[in-house]
Amino acid sequence: MNNYSEKFEKMRKAGSLASNTLDMITGYIKPGLSTNKIDELCYEFIKDNGGHSAPLYYRGFNKSICTSLNHVVCHGIPGERVLEDGDILNIDVTAILHNHYGDTSRMFTVGKPSVKSMNLINVTYESLMKSIEILKPGKKLGDIGHEIQTHVEKAGFSVVRDFCGHGIGDVFHQSPNILHYGKKNTGPELQPGMTFTIEPMINAGKYEVKILNDGWTAVTKDKTLSAQFEHTVGITDNGYEIFTESVKNLKRPPYN
Ligand code: MF3
Ligand code: CO
Ligand code: CO
Repeated sequence: MNNYSEKFEKMRKAGSLASNTLDMITGYIKPGLSTNKIDELCYEFIKDNGGHSAPLYYRGFNKSICTSLNHVVCHGIPGERVLEDGDILNIDVTAILHNHYGDTSRMFTVGKPSVKSMNLINVTYESLMKSIEILKPGKKLGDIGHEIQTHVEKAGFSVVRDFCGHGIGDVFHQSPNILHYGKKNTGPELQPGMTFTIEPMINAGKYEVKILNDGWTAVTKDKTLSAQFEHTVGITDNGYEIFTESVKNLKRPPYN
């Protein structure tokens, strides 16, 4: 036993609820499904499993999840838009269970994705996992951003600067900010018991984003595609734990 094991147990449960929600929705992702329907299915699943959706009524957000399509970087609001062949979609779920938060997102492809979009999705996923694999006490926050940025820029893509990962626990968003770009061996040291998200947003073109008039939807300024994956993780005595891993091993598309 250590002084963070109770907290980690709660993070495991909240994280599993969030990742189970993404597992549940995977089979539904087909042309013709509306993002509102995805929102409704996720809302019901989380509620049926004893939790709540954190985004609902969060700072005026009025849906339970974020659905970010194609050139939408993050915080896409579910609506009447139906999925079309060739779309790429990020679904971001944050579940609250026993007062703790699990926050995770994955990319989904609709019908037949282009080679370019699959490449963007793969590079984004790999950058997240590379940054997770180095986590242990003594590593620094800048090391996380460095791993992501190096992998992404080698592939010719860019790391969004305007949004970052965040501390998470019994609060949705708290310090520290987890930047997805940065320099090795800079910033605060990772400590056992820390819990935070890593959620790189990667653009096929330039990294600049703009916010639409709804006050939420962030899109690439140059209208190129954007991808994102997110995990909630904890720092252990000698490494890390991922709280939002899929129990069905649904890591990245294709999921079948
Ligand atoms: N889940 C997002 C994150 O990764 C935050 C969504 S807040 C919302 O931090 F209000 F846009 F839903
Ligand atoms: Co997050
Ligand atoms: Co999220």
